[in-house]
This record gives sequence, C-alpha cells and structure tokens, in this order.
Amino acid sequence: MTAEPVNIFEYEEIAKERLSQGNYDFIAGAATDEITLRRTRAAFDSIMIRPRMMVDVSNRDLSTTVLGQKIALPIMLDPAGNHGAAHLEGELASARAAGAMDTIMVLSSHASRTLEEVAQAATGPIWFQQYFFKDRGLTLEMASRAEEAGYSALCLTLDAKIKPKRERNIRNNYVGSVSPNYAHLDLATHTWKFAADAPAGPSDIRDQATTWPDLDWLAANTRLPLVVKGIMVGEDGKRSAEHGAKGIIVSNHGARYLDTTLATIEVLPEVVAEVGGQAEVYMDGGIRRGTDVFKALALGARAVLIGRPLFWGLAVDGENGVRSVLEMLRDELEGTMGMCGRPTIDSIDAEVISGVSPLQAMFS
Ligand SMILES: Cc1cc2nc3c(=O)[nH]c(=O)nc-3n(C[C@H](O)[C@H](O)[C@H](O)COP(=O)(O)O)c2cc1C
Repeated sequence: MTAEPVNIFEYEEIAKERLSQGNYDFIAGAATDEITLRRTRAAFDSIMIRPRMMVDVSNRDLSTTVLGQKIALPIMLDPAGNHGAAHLEGELASARAAGAMDTIMVLSSHASRTLEEVAQAATGPIWFQQYFFKDRGLTLEMASRAEEAGYSALCLTLDAKIKPKRERNIRNNYVGSVSPNYAHLDLATHTWKFAADAPAGPSDIRDQATTWPDLDWLAANTRLPLVVKGIMVGEDGKRSAEHGAKGIIVSNHGARYLDTTLATIEVLPEVVAEVGGQAEVYMDGGIRRGTDVFKALALGARAVLIGRPLFWGLAVDGENGVRSVLEMLRDELEGTMGMCGRPTIDSIDAEVISGVSPLQAMFS
C-alpha cells in the first residue's frame, strides 16, 4: 500500500510495512489471546448512532477543558513507551504534534527521550506518567522532576504492576530498550526478572503492594494534580476520587496486561456513574474513528486518549503523521457532531446513541 492513508486503519497498514516485525508486534500486540484487544475495538461498532435533524450546526466547537486546561479537541495522546521504536525523533515529534493540534500529550516514563528534553520540545501542555515504585524516594524523585520540568499533571498507571504475557513478543524474542529517564539507576541491581519483552530496566522495582492510602500519600507530596489510569470498575473509580485523584482514565491498557477483561466503552457508564462528578473521567482503548470519540463522550467521558494510532502516525511521517492522525479523528468527530445536531462537546449526550437494535426488542 503506497497511496496516502485516508484513515487510521490505512496508517497502520503502511506503518506495518515500515516497521520491523518485532517493533510492529510490540506496538500492535496485546496479552495472551488478544480477546480484549478485539473486543475493545468491536464494542464501538456495536453502538449505533441516532442522528438528529433541524438543529443549527453551522458552528461546531470541539474545544473543551481537562483539569481546567483548554484543549482544541477532546482527544489526547496516551502515555506509551518508546516512541523511538517508530521514529528517530520519538517523543519530541509527538509532543510537537500534540502542541500543534492544541491538545495534551501524556509522556510515558518509559519514553525514548528524557522527560526534560520532551518538556523543552513541547509546544503545548504536557502530563507525565509514572508508577509507584517500591522505593518511595524514587517515586517522589520522578514526580518532582516532572513538576520542575513544567508538566501540569501526574498520571499514575495502576494496572501495570504484574508481569504481562505477550506472546508475540515472546515469539519474536523482543527486548525493549531502557528509558533514559532511568539512566541514573544502577541497572545491574534493577533488572526485569521475567518478561520476555522487558527492557533491562527498573520495572521490577514497581511496587505490587500499593493500596489506596498510597494515592493519598502521593497527592500530599506533589503539587501536581493526580490522574489515575487503568480503572475498569465503578467502585475503583469512586475510590480513586476519594483518595485524591482529580482525573480517572478508564483503560484496560490497550489489552496489553490482562486478557478477557471487558471493553473500556462497556464499563465507562458504570465508572462515570460511581464517580458522580467527583473527578473528571476520560477513557482510552480502540479509538480509531471520530464516531468512536463521539460514542465515548455520549457515554460520559470528558475526553479520550489514543495509543497505537500515534505510533502509526509516527512510523509513517513523524510529527506530521501524528498530527494527521489527530486531524482525521477531529474531522470525523466534527462531521458526526454536525449530523447529530450536537454542535458543542457539552451537548453530546446518551440520547444520540443506542446499544440495542429496535428489532431485537421487537422479536424478543
Ligand atoms: C507500544 C505501547 C506502549 C505503551 N506504554 C505505556 C506506558 O508506558 N504507560 C502506560 O500507562 N500505558 C502504556 N500503553 C497503553 C496506552 O497508554 C493506552 O492505554 C492504550 O494504548 C490505549 O489503547 P489503543 O492503543 O487502542 O488506543 C502503551 C501502549 C502501547 C501500544
């Protein structure tokens, strides 16, 4: 395939041709049978839209706010390790693309560039993603580096403390690289113990013993607002808010850690209901079309994030590719809003979607 991609699926096809098998599988793949990977995407296709007529949609405004920060579209870049696997400029290119689109990039602590370098290159607001480490000093050190470098929120990934089984990576003997964010650590004593796809890095120093009070502890020790990532059950969303999270990302980590969980769009309404406005709720997983973004907003997400699509954009055309991926989603979302009589983000409600065919009801 050589023609210009007209959608994100075509971006992936071209990216696949350009990437090594190992890197493609690392990005595209997920845990064990990849049932959740397929379900997370397919769940969007099972939700139908109810278009509405005769509404003035001549001015469509896609802007919104997240944690008080205005963004031009309700789509952000997910934290994802090693953008360098897709493009030499790695996270510098993605951060510039997010800035150009007036939206936020969340930088992974497993980035191929240091958080300080990315902060310098960024042309818009950025958040930093990290983990709870067994070493609380290191946990605070990463948080304060992010604070000093100018990041405006700290994203805590909660769903990645257990070793995943990714069979594509095992087959490919895939070994990732160590992020320069950890360059100061003694890697001789901080090696991954088990994962076939794991870099020799500090992942085994992630704390598996963390409980809710640890979130209170971190909230009390950083000036940055906390966003938790990896929530899949309403009660966990509620607890996150009770323990200091200002934002919650409903996420199954792109199905990369645990297989046979539900799709994120399926659990989103439950989390939104339980959080009850005590924190902002975002979601990720399987967003490939503007209609997907629209459905997530209709079910209560304030904004969405994309993971794999940013790699496809990077692999095809660096900064411009990531920008183009965001533009495609934005334009498709804008068209959907127009067709549904919902000209602003706030006006998108559950009234415009349907999970059940009327025929199903008729024949049951
Ligand atoms: C290659 C790759 C690396 C990732 N690395 C991280 C990471 O370092 N931290 C994290 O919280 N999530 C990470 N994720 C998960 C994403 O943040 C996100 O939850 C997921 O990709 C969303 O699904 P999508 O790819 O279908 O958009 C990664 C995802 C991919 C594809």
